[in-house]
Amino acid sequence: MSRPRLRLIHGPTPIVRRPALDALTGVELWIKRDDAIAGAEAGNKLRKLEMLLGDAVAQGKRAVVTCGGLQSNHARATAIVCAELGLRAELLLRVPDPEAARQTPPPATGNLLLDRLVGAGIQWVSPDEYRQRVGLLEQAARRLEDDGLPAYIVPEGGSNGLGALGYFEAMREVREQMDLGLTAPGPFDVVAHACGSGGTAAGVLLGAEAFAIAREVRAFAVCDDAPTFERVIGQIVTEARAHLAGEAPSGDHVRLVVDDSAKGPAYAVQSDDQRAFLVEVARRSGLVLDPVYTGKALYGVAQAVSRGAIPRGARVLFIHTGGLPGLLAQADELAPALGRVR
Ligand SMILES: Cc1ncc(COP(=O)(O)O)c(C=O)c1O
Repeated sequence: MSRPRLRLIHGPTPIVRRPALDALTGVELWIKRDDAIAGAEAGNKLRKLEMLLGDAVAQGKRAVVTCGGLQSNHARATAIVCAELGLRAELLLRVPDPEAARQTPPPATGNLLLDRLVGAGIQWVSPDEYRQRVGLLEQAARRLEDDGLPAYIVPEGGSNGLGALGYFEAMREVREQMDLGLTAPGPFDVVAHACGSGGTAAGVLLGAEAFAIAREVRAFAVCDDAPTFERVIGQIVTEARAHLAGEAPSGDHVRLVVDDSAKGPAYAVQSDDQRAFLVEVARRSGLVLDPVYTGKALYGVAQAVSRGAIPRGARVLFIHTGGLPGLLAQADELAPALGRVR
């Protein structure tokens, strides 16, 4: 591909087995460790940022504007990579009460700690304002330009056609690993992952088709509902296909299922069962999931097996998309599930 791309990830991420989790989930579980893709900036966003910030640098931009929730992994990854590249990062972060946040900033924990550590600029925005985020990002970019810093806008989650190509390339990486015999022979039955803004799902779907990775992509929504994500993912797939041109797969042999049954009580809030599952996974296997994305998605896999939506014993490639700082920001919420100190 001739499009500009940065090298931000530390080589192909491993695909590992944790046999203790087969019993817990009911499937033959293979885990693609995109949580181990880099250092503090790790997680799925880095694959998208290779494309998006590659474009920003090629265009001579000197600042990057993006947005997300207060504990956004995407905003944190963007802020860290911008510090590495010498770009200014401006983050629009959603908080319940921006005026209160301007008086007393929210505690710098988890992702926010890292945002502040690397010196990102932060604007607090209310949930209502956040609905108009496209306009707010443009305004922020214009302000930076007025200060002499040409700014590049990265949409929420890095989820547009260009960003999605990061996961198209990730599936090429999985194909190479399959060909090297690093997984069981033959395609997977399902690729499963958490879905928050749709870009990962779009890239995985196109790549799963192009490189014959699996028969089904199951994207576990952590917010919104299945019809909303089907529409969003469809739009991103169309944009990504335009970037891929001749490389784009033609058929639609891979089934996309947006599964919104494991969202839990609300975005970033887990049910007691989900919390207990996350603790059980860590204790049985040493695999550390996060409460906002990956914990819900793997819980969703187990639930889908229980209700017959994924056949018991199916071979599943679970993409661990990262999110560790979000776990570290939820110490209070997790405390009851940890039990007594042993
Ligand atoms: C850790 C983690 N996993 C999964 C996702 C979902 O990816 P996407 O936004 O591409 O749907 C995100 C971001 O939203 C994330 O931070």
